[in-house]
Amino acid sequence: MLKKDWWKSAVIYQIYPRSFQDTNGDGFGDFQGIIRRLPYLEKLGIDCIWLCPVYRSPQDDNGYDISDYCDVDPMFGTMADMEELIGKAREHGIYIVMDLVLNHSSDEHKWFIEAKKSRENPYHDYYVWRDGKEGVLPNDMKAAFGGSAWEWVPEVEQYYFHQFSVKQPDLNWENPKLRQELWDIINFWIDKGVGGFRLDVIDLVGKVPDEKITSNGPKLHEYIKEMTAHTFVRDNLISVGESETWSATPEIAKLYSNPDGSELSMVFQFEHICLDQQEGKEKWDLAPLPFHKFKEVWNKWQTELYGCGWNSLFWDNHDLPRIVSRWGDEGQYREESAKMLATLLHGMQGTPYIYQGEELGMTNVKYELEEYRDIELFGMYKERRAQGYTHEELMESIYAKTRDNARTPMQWDTTEQAGFTTGKPWIKVNPNYTEINAAEQVDRENSIFNYYRKLIQLRKELPVLTDGKFTMLDMDHNQIFAYLRDNGEDKLLVVCNFYGNTVDYAVSEKAEDLELLIGNYTEENMQTDVLRPYEARIYRIR
Ligand code: GLC
Ligand code: CA
Repeated sequence: MLKKDWWKSAVIYQIYPRSFQDTNGDGFGDFQGIIRRLPYLEKLGIDCIWLCPVYRSPQDDNGYDISDYCDVDPMFGTMADMEELIGKAREHGIYIVMDLVLNHSSDEHKWFIEAKKSRENPYHDYYVWRDGKEGVLPNDMKAAFGGSAWEWVPEVEQYYFHQFSVKQPDLNWENPKLRQELWDIINFWIDKGVGGFRLDVIDLVGKVPDEKITSNGPKLHEYIKEMTAHTFVRDNLISVGESETWSATPEIAKLYSNPDGSELSMVFQFEHICLDQQEGKEKWDLAPLPFHKFKEVWNKWQTELYGCGWNSLFWDNHDLPRIVSRWGDEGQYREESAKMLATLLHGMQGTPYIYQGEELGMTNVKYELEEYRDIELFGMYKERRAQGYTHEELMESIYAKTRDNARTPMQWDTTEQAGFTTGKPWIKVNPNYTEINAAEQVDRENSIFNYYRKLIQLRKELPVLTDGKFTMLDMDHNQIFAYLRDNGEDKLLVVCNFYGNTVDYAVSEKAEDLELLIGNYTEENMQTDVLRPYEARIYRIR
């Protein structure tokens, strides 16, 4: 059994398997590829791999449409390979965290194939159906990937509900039989030795479509408690919920991550990540990052969850653009800004997540429309073109925000296709792999990779990074993000220049005796009270 709360000092690395490492030349990453790269991950120092979905799937939404929860997709290998991965990862001190998609299945899941045969079918009630007439929708709810959330099935003369694509019918959590099936699936994977689960769009499972309620439905927390009691508590596993509406409040997050352990270990909240878009609109409607608001949001989450909940700390994931392109500088100060962003995040309280390639400072891409692959982007493009947006406008939004920015192949070395595959990759490799790649960084002492490695080590060495109280400094400063961490025994000062120009900042006035623990510039020419472009430092206050 794992130690209680072990995940509070853990660092988690997210792998998007189809883009990580291919070993058989089919252009898709696979289990053997991850196994091959375990030494790299061990060197980085991470504790867990969050593995994006590897279950059997028609891949309409890259695996977030599951047709068999207890099998793996042949594109990644066999179940034996998967078991080998779980076992070998343990030998490298790493736990596998599975990505569970329980709000919906694929329409090719045997449950759905049965469910749509007739209303009397025992699986019918595993999904969310509403009566109606063809062409007369139950209501006007929209699906996240475009179009109506309702789809007509003539055989049963009913509509089924789908919050994502038509190939992702929503599961009916009101049905206790369905819930039991889901707990069995989770236990199937626990028995295989995984370290926990990331729960896809968990906030949507308590939906009440008749009242147009999707997230945070009335029974949501009841369901989560039932799930946890039947599964994760067995072994103190890590469980992290994704809050798809991307708008959880600290109040809600406290319920999810209640220290009594009755729900989840922690939740992903997306408030900081949604700030560079126009208010009330979608992520495609670009706006500059409002720095003060950004600081307020972090301050709120850091202080309100202190002692009564737990934060997940992240910049990137498989749904987000690359942070260095987004809020850093992917040009002249790529290395400095990537390290600054890492410092800012890893200095805070919560469990840090690193998305594959973030530790190398991988960047966004600018491809031709047809070179992209993501279902979300094409849904948006079609809808907005029909509304009169120009191709050029839409491409600007795509460059900035498409999920494919994160999904281009991992850049391992300078060989063809970045060492990702010997074949043709499923999505084009970012052409900058000749400069940005792991081989160049692993042995270079001041690389971004080694900076992340040091930050992870610091987290292991200094308990204050896990349990210290957070206090924001100089909230009104329009360029500096600085804060203290203090657990009564140890005290840290974190100072980050968030922008690309030099700024005077009276660091020396914050405390008398400062010991520099880590910084993203060499100490040569360092002036304590001047921060160079994107300069970041962590001090111990003695
Ligand atoms: C989550 C996943 C995303 C997926 C969606 C539907 O937001 O992170 O990749 O498309 O859920 O499952
Ligand atoms: Ca492969």
